[in-house]
Amino acid sequence: MQGVTVVDHPLVQHKLTLMRKRDTSTKSFRELLREIASLVCYEVTRDLPLEQVEIETPLATMQAPMLAGKKLVFAPILRSGLGMLEGMLELVPAARVAHIGLYRDPATLHCVEYYFKAPADLAERAVVVVDPMLATGNTAIAAVDRLREAGAKSVRLACLLASPEGLSKFHGHHPDVHVWTAAIDERLNDHGYILPGLGDAGDRMYGTR
Ligand code: URA
Repeated sequence: MQGVTVVDHPLVQHKLTLMRKRDTSTKSFRELLREIASLVCYEVTRDLPLEQVEIETPLATMQAPMLAGKKLVFAPILRSGLGMLEGMLELVPAARVAHIGLYRDPATLHCVEYYFKAPADLAERAVVVVDPMLATGNTAIAAVDRLREAGAKSVRLACLLASPEGLSKFHGHHPDVHVWTAAIDERLNDHGYILPGLGDAGDRMYGTR
């Protein structure tokens, strides 16, 4: 599928299966999400540009590679994006964070923003939108719209599970935003849940419902 990378590493797939299981505890679910997020982040950042800098080892001077340009921005969509943020920050501790609060109006089914706080210089940074479930695609589309309105130019999306419908709708709106996901599931159900999926990621992560 165009514009999508499935992170099919055995560790990711094993951990995802544990997350899907109905009887996985809140504690384990949260830990597994953090661990998978780190592994997905490793792939999302694979093409970051490097520059050669001069350093002194204890024995010699050398030219060595370091990340070039401004720090990355991770942009979790509240609330379940927060569950992936921690694992991603473990890998890229100097990243900046943009928080995006969106909910779906039950009457209109449109996304409504209730919180947005991002670094001022988004245009100069690569931005990674973080949301475990790319289901209908509406929230991810609204998040990228909002980040672009705030100046973001280079945007990518990290998730855990995607539906074929959500991916296709998302790329219909944002064809240039590459998506990394641990799996593409079968389909959406009538309530916008991913099948077979893992249920409501936010509820499972925080023990709510
Ligand atoms: N959000 C979730 O948490 N789960 C789904 O299956 C779809 C959207």
